[in-house]
Amino acid sequence: MSINNPVSLANGNTIPNVGFGTFQTPPDETKIAVAEAIKAGYRHIDTAAIYGNEAGVGEAVRESGVGRGEFFITTKVWNTERGFEKTLAAAEGSLEKLGLDYVDLLLVHWPANYLQFGSEAKALNADTWRAFEHLYEQGRAKAIGVSNFMAHHLEALEETAKVRPMVNQIEVHPGWYQANAIKWCQDHDIVVEAWSPLGQQAVLAHPVLQEIADRHGKETAQVSLRWALQHGLIPLPKSVTPARIRSNTELFDFVLSVEEIQAIDKLENIGGPCLRPDDVLF
Ligand code: A2P
Repeated sequence: MSINNPVSLANGNTIPNVGFGTFQTPPDETKIAVAEAIKAGYRHIDTAAIYGNEAGVGEAVRESGVGRGEFFITTKVWNTERGFEKTLAAAEGSLEKLGLDYVDLLLVHWPANYLQFGSEAKALNADTWRAFEHLYEQGRAKAIGVSNFMAHHLEALEETAKVRPMVNQIEVHPGWYQANAIKWCQDHDIVVEAWSPLGQQAVLAHPVLQEIADRHGKETAQVSLRWALQHGLIPLPKSVTPARIRSNTELFDFVLSVEEIQAIDKLENIGGPCLRPDDVLF
């Protein structure tokens, strides 16, 4: 087992079971951080148009000396670009910034929600998704999925989608488990990725995690990532610090017990940012 253990997607493609997160990685530090991650063994890199750092990701990938086929690169279409035509253009813009002719996974960054779009939200998500299906057919995205979709957003999408999302990337970390969304996805053959799996650092000093980490001789960050893996999730830890980039890959020399996993499941509302996709206004 390693961070590149292949997990099957519904279309038969595989995705490495840990990805390198770049949310909040400043654009001018991205190339170096991603190069460090590639050196540490990561082949799955997660970015997004809104992070402003796709160019740095692409440069690090292209200059790594590692073949394109060994990488799994994800990007996301931002909320201002929803709808059929705008989504197509946004995806092309991302590919250009990345300097790639395809991504391995393209995600809808957030569902249009009722709070902002009222009764139009569902149709807007359907239109955006139609563009994703087109990009998938064209081979510009080898797999397509969503991000921050809760079960009811996915159920609504089912009414019009021809291709079901293969991945849903949601916020999951100790203190924000999201059991309902995870269950819905796993029941429908949708692989769940965990963004901010370290709760943006805020969970790492929690005594429950510390006690478990001490028992295994590991760090609380490693316990958080292992917890996600044992739930069948793909964690996407972010770091710009070489020692952390490496230690976040050392997850396969220990196993959490059922009791330890349940103790972590029960932690509530710790760590940030604990966002509810129906409440956000972006
Ligand atoms: P940095 O990038 O300065 O190394 P998340 O992945 O949940 O969004 O968390 C990212 C945050 O956690 C960043 O502030 C990152 O800091 C920090 N971080 C990443 N890995 C570790 C680690 N192994 N130990 C402590 N902090 C970490």
